[in-house]
Amino acid sequence: MSFQISKDLKLPRDAATWVLAFLAKRGAGKTYCSSVLAEEMLKAKIPIVVVDGMGIWWGLRVGKNGEGPGLPIVVFGGEHADLPLVPEKAKSIARAIVQANISAVIDLSTLSKLQSRRIVMDFLDELYQINRVERHVFIEETDLWAPQRTIGPEQAQCLGAVDNFVRRGGNHNLGCSMITQRSAVLNKDILTQSDCLVVLRTLAPQDKKAIQAWVEEQTDEDRRKLNQWYDSLKELKNGESWIWHPEKPAIYKKIMFRERETFHATRTFLLSPRASTIKLMDVNEFIDKFRNVFEPKPPPQTVKPSVPAIRANQPISTYIPRNTLTHTPASMPGGNIPKIIPQDSDTAKVQQVVPNLILEKLRPTAQLPADLLENPPTPLARVLVAVTNHEGRDDRWTGAKIKTSIREHAWPDDGVDEAIAELTRWEILRKQSNNYLRFYRDRVQVVDRPYEVAVS
Ligand SMILES: Nc1ncnc2c1ncn2[C@@H]1O[C@H](COP(=O)(O)OP(=O)(O)OP(=O)(O)O)[C@@H](O)[C@H]1O
Ligand SMILES: [Mg+2]
Repeated sequence: MSFQISKDLKLPRDAATWVLAFLAKRGAGKTYCSSVLAEEMLKAKIPIVVVDGMGIWWGLRVGKNGEGPGLPIVVFGGEHADLPLVPEKAKSIARAIVQANISAVIDLSTLSKLQSRRIVMDFLDELYQINRVERHVFIEETDLWAPQRTIGPEQAQCLGAVDNFVRRGGNHNLGCSMITQRSAVLNKDILTQSDCLVVLRTLAPQDKKAIQAWVEEQTDEDRRKLNQWYDSLKELKNGESWIWHPEKPAIYKKIMFRERETFHATRTFLLSPRASTIKLMDVNEFIDKFRNVFEPKPPPQTVKPSVPAIRANQPISTYIPRNTLTHTPASMPGGNIPKIIPQDSDTAKVQQVVPNLILEKLRPTAQLPADLLENPPTPLARVLVAVTNHEGRDDRWTGAKIKTSIREHAWPDDGVDEAIAELTRWEILRKQSNNYLRFYRDRVQVVDRPYEVAVS
């Protein structure tokens, strides 16, 4: 399965978890073209969320000419709200979206910037925490939520949330499309995280400079050629765009995005009398499902076994309390994880309702005592400290890179391969289809004191 965004280009399904940046001047087709990608994802049943400050993405739910059904997506807030959007509820909305596994538009167009920022921050933070299945988040006017220069703590916090989401979302299967007409104003550290650039018509020298900052990290192409390319960007027609994805599958191609299959609402349309008469496709089934999520039935009673912690200063095999182990997935060292269902409960029913949730909770966490960070005593601890201290992307590790980092700390690099294998078995590191290792940062806890005092 792939995303046919143009007659000459399909993006691979993996693009659902890429970080893309749609960059262009006003009116060049950013919303139109990113909506084409959104349509492709919705058709492929990949859930999406759109953070929409302009109040136009509800158009996804309406047919091309403003009539008939579009694609199923629930709208929170704005003029076409299915459900209300209030700042205090942003986290519950994220939880409900994940639990019901629906696609949603978060329409901020009727709220103040301060309220909107609070929603964006809480919503992205919560989604990042709880999401596990593939999901793609489109962020319109990303520069508003993640500017290069912040004023005041609210803006800084919101920037922090977007930064974390873009930088580490991939660890939780979250992809993201950042959309901005002001590349120069979007925070540089965030823009440089993009896996794929979608550049439409761009004129302003400072915006070209921002694109340049990304490009020059990716390629050693001759400067003269690049300058010609930057200059050519002003000639692009609406919807015409360069797609640049330097890593595998390498894409560097000029395309014309296909036409939309759903309704493209523009600012001018919103001012017309027709705007108030338009009908959205019926998604009652989704909304009912969603309401149920807000009023959940009491969950069945289960006894949650405690999660064994890996302590970085001990060999892993000693961490598992053997008397609690009964279930045996092949990938676990020692072959066991704690039993999920207590013997005396209504086993069949409980297993149907919650197995994934419980299994997720049983993922072990590695505990790193803070006093060992300076000089970790075992290969396992050295690997954990090296990957935890790293500021860049968590999904681009290799064994060689980990060893280099350990040597840069002036620590011995013996036993590193075994430690990586051990952490891979525990899914703290995971080998991905592109052969890079992904590090699951949220499964490492730095604890204040040693978990246990060693007695020698
Ligand atoms: N692939 C395409 N096929 C046909 N028309 C297109 C295409 N892409 C863009 N357009 C046309 O370009 C117009 C402007 O596109 P769009 O509203 O997406 O611009 P934008 O870059 O998001 O602008 P703004 O910065 O104002 O939000 C659309 O109304 C549409 O008519
Ligand atoms: Mg737009």
